[in-house]
Amino acid sequence: MKHLEGMLKADALKGKTYIVTGGGTGLGKSMTRYFLELGANVVISSRKLDVLQKTAEELEAETGGKVLAVQCDVRNYAEVEKMLADTLARFGQVDGLLNNAAGNFISPTERLSNKAFDVIVDIVLKGSYNCTLALGKHWIAAKQTNKTVLSIVTTYAWTGSAYVVPSACAKAGVLAMTRSLAVEWAKYGIRMNAIAPGPFPTKGAWDRLVPGEFRERFDLVKQVPLRRAGEHQELANLAAYLMSDYSAYMNGEVVTIDGGEWLQGAGEFNLFEDVTSEQWDMVEKMVRSAKSE
Ligand code: HXC
Ligand code: NAP
Repeated sequence: MKHLEGMLKADALKGKTYIVTGGGTGLGKSMTRYFLELGANVVISSRKLDVLQKTAEELEAETGGKVLAVQCDVRNYAEVEKMLADTLARFGQVDGLLNNAAGNFISPTERLSNKAFDVIVDIVLKGSYNCTLALGKHWIAAKQTNKTVLSIVTTYAWTGSAYVVPSACAKAGVLAMTRSLAVEWAKYGIRMNAIAPGPFPTKGAWDRLVPGEFRERFDLVKQVPLRRAGEHQELANLAAYLMSDYSAYMNGEVVTIDGGEWLQGAGEFNLFEDVTSEQWDMVEKMVRSAKSE
């Protein structure tokens, strides 16, 4: 199964140092593992230092790579600057930022307090622009080029989605930042790209978006034309490519990796999926006879 295998050449990321926010769990952890396998040093950050340290130990033992665990709430700019300083102190340089940290939960919007709306937007949008700003200022002041920022958004950044409105607003903002800075900062040698994943099961997301009996009742895979969830390695392959020098001419792009999910809801006649072959025979007859009338 090729999609379960690493895609890039060995050592494709050798000599690179990347910061992965939210790198202690879920997709951030899977992407970090693959970056390490390809030779990068990785700084993982989030609010829970114990979780980060456990992940760092596990991934170093598994891959032989170097991981620095840094506690950092991305909503707080001073903490982001400290994360950058810690990175430079340990590795001497930083080549890329992966904006992956997020907060989200399913809820009718009218049930949210203003604080609940704030918490999601602050983690996702403010967190992403805090990290991007701090890294961008550093690279520009130091006149360093060949740097990259990759942000994990979602397909509802452009379609919107009911019941996750703060997340949709915030991810849309991250996408707007990506496309804006792709132009503004290209002259400094900084590339900006995004990935929009469909359903890739993680504990963090599934516990908050499809809890309890919702998991069976609203099986997200059913709305994916390829009829399966994404595998973490598939996302890691794409992320490693977009962080690497192999994607040097990719700038301002958002790459969807969702098995066709968002288009399933978009096409006018996509709901005809259940029509059987016999029914299509009947339909054809009816349509042809309508033409001859
Ligand atoms: C209504 C809620 C709520 C809920 C929290 N709040 N949960 N309101 N329904 N289920 C309210 C609280 O009452 C409070 O408002 C405010 O939100 C802040 O809550 P806290 O618990 O104080 O916040 P905090 O401890 O900072 O936790 C943040 C969090 C939490 C976002 C609420 O879930 C978290 O830490 N998440 C991080 C990881 C995560 O979310 N991963 C999933 C990403 S998945 P009041 O007014 O009462 O004080 C993702 C996938 C998208 O993005 C696409 C999938 C296909
Ligand atoms: P996850 O495991 O819950 O990851 C979220 C991470 O963000 C956690 O490690 C969390 O760590 C960190 N985080 C939250 N608030 C933070 C803060 N204030 N400061 C720093 N870090 C913070 O969920 P996931 O599914 O892997 O999600 C990863 C990314 O993929 C997110 O951007 C999500 O929107 C996106 N995504 C996921 C899916 C999916 O199907 N899973 C689909 C589309 C997009 P702490 O709690 O320790 O802070």
